Parts: sequence; C-alpha cells; structure tokens
Amino acid sequence: MRIIENVGEMQRQADAWRAEGEKISFVPTMGFLHEGHLSLLRSARTLGSKSVVSIFVNPTQFGPTEDFASYPRDVGKDLELSGKTGTDAAFVPAAAEMYPDGFQTFVEVTRVTKNLCGASRPIFFRGVATVVSKLFHAVKPHVAVFGQKDFQQLVAIRRMVKDLNMDVEIVGHPIVREKDGLAMSSRNTYLLGEERLVALRLHRSLEVARELVGSGEKNGGAILQAVNDCLTAGGGAAVDYARLCDTDTIEEVEVVEGPTLLALAVWVGKTRLIDNCVLGG
Ligand code: PAJ
Repeated sequence: MRIIENVGEMQRQADAWRAEGEKISFVPTMGFLHEGHLSLLRSARTLGSKSVVSIFVNPTQFGPTEDFASYPRDVGKDLELSGKTGTDAAFVPAAAEMYPDGFQTFVEVTRVTKNLCGASRPIFFRGVATVVSKLFHAVKPHVAVFGQKDFQQLVAIRRMVKDLNMDVEIVGHPIVREKDGLAMSSRNTYLLGEERLVALRLHRSLEVARELVGSGEKNGGAILQAVNDCLTAGGGAAVDYARLCDTDTIEEVEVVEGPTLLALAVWVGKTRLIDNCVLGG
C-alpha cells in the first residue's frame, strides 16, 4: 500500500491512475480504524480498481469544547489494517497540509444539517463538508463510500455532491455492529466498565421502536416515548436527541408512514454515542 502525505503527490497518483483507465474508490476516515471502517474499505475495493483510504482527524469539525485533542489516534496500526484489506493507497496528510496559513474557504450544506447533530454540534457539518470537498479534490475518486452510522453526514455529502456538481458517486454502507449490537465507533474506546453495558441501550431502543412499528404503531410520540424510556431506564445515559425524521430532508416527522429515520445521540458518561435505523421501510 502506497502512503501519501502530500496533496500534490496524491493528485499526481490519481491523475496517473485515471490516465491508465483505473476507477478510483475512496473511503475518508479519521483513523483509529475498526471493523466498521474495514468493511467500508473492503466494499470500496469491489467498487473500483484502485482504492484509497484517507486518515485525517479533521480539526474544523470539532467544537472548542469537543474531543479533538483526545480523539484516539494510531496511524501505524491503521496503515497495517488498511494494507491488509488490499487498499492501494493511504492518504495521510498533516493538518498544515490540509489547512495552510490563511485558509478561509468553507463549504456549507444548509438545511439537511440544521437538525440532529447539526443542532448539537453547530460547526460540525461545515467542517465535514469542507474537508470531504478537499479530500475529493486530492484523491479525485470516481466513487466514495460513507457509513449509514453517520446517516445525516451521508445525506449532507449526497446533497453537497449534487449541489456542487461534483463528479463522484456516493455509496452508503450499512452500520457494522459488535456481536452484542453496539454500533462500532472509534469513540467506543472511551467507554469505561459499566458504561459499555449502558451503551447497549442505544441498539436495544432501536429494536424496541422497530417492534412497535412492526406491530402497527405509527404515532411518533408513542414511539419516541418508548425509545426514551428504554434509553434512560437504569440511569447512566443522558439523551441528547432521539428523533424521527424524513430520510431525505432530515426534517422531523410525527407519524411513521414509509421509511423514517430514527436517530439517536446519547451521552454515556463523557462519551457521546450516535446510532440510527430506518423504520417503516
Ligand atoms: P469516521 O468517524 O472515522 O468514519 C469514517 C467512515 O466510517 C464514515 O463514513 C462513517 O460513517 C463510517 N463508519 C464508522 N463507524 C461505522 C460503523 N460502525 N458502521 C458503518 N460505517 C461506519 O465520519 C468521519 O470519520 C468523518 O466525519 C469524515 C467523513 C472522515 C470527515 O472528516
């Protein structure tokens, strides 16, 4: 696997591949790779003839009180793991390479980022859209894979690509879970002792909602009540949000008719976890 640290070098490699008729597939990540990321990398390999992973903890998507400094990092292990998936190149830029002095241009996706994580983390999606645009310009992919774990992020990236005429196909990948149902996340490493058990309630509450909808419940209020009860029973979890939204607009809905996103963000101790599922579809 080729390791590339420089934007110009990445662009030259991408140009060379394109000139040879290769199809470039791409998975952007912030590293500390787990099986969820690796599953995206394996999927990317089947979608193109040359696959690239990026590993970059993007400072512009973290708020001033968030965990940028403590975000887990292990680039050596990430390179080893991504190499084993058969990925052709890892783009691992330094912060100064991505955000040189004088940087002042941002990409903003406005409406689909208002609700959910955009409400709790006001600068998050501006940072994500900006860095993903920059990564697309460096890697020049034909296709890029994003996880449905970050459902709103996937919707925002699809919107950005459409609105800015970016010539990249966006592919969504299902959520990869631990055996006990916990959605894999680099932040799971923060969970201490009992918190790991409390964290299981996110998946369990999605199951509760799925069962309710399966038995005919359509009332959003009743579904969210059951979800909140499941999340908070036993203590140790503080719900940031539990909402039902349209899967395209991310606007809230009150009745589950057709595919509806149930999105959760929950604080377990000092760790903020997200999870979601699509109900009724
Ligand atoms: P990161 O959290 O490292 O996630 C990288 C990609 O892996 C995202 O598309 C995310 O949805 C996907 N992913 C993470 N955990 C997953 C799981 N359990 N199942 C399926 N997919 C999973 O998301 C980011 O980084 C950043 O915001 C980024 C897009 C790289 C921009 O900085």
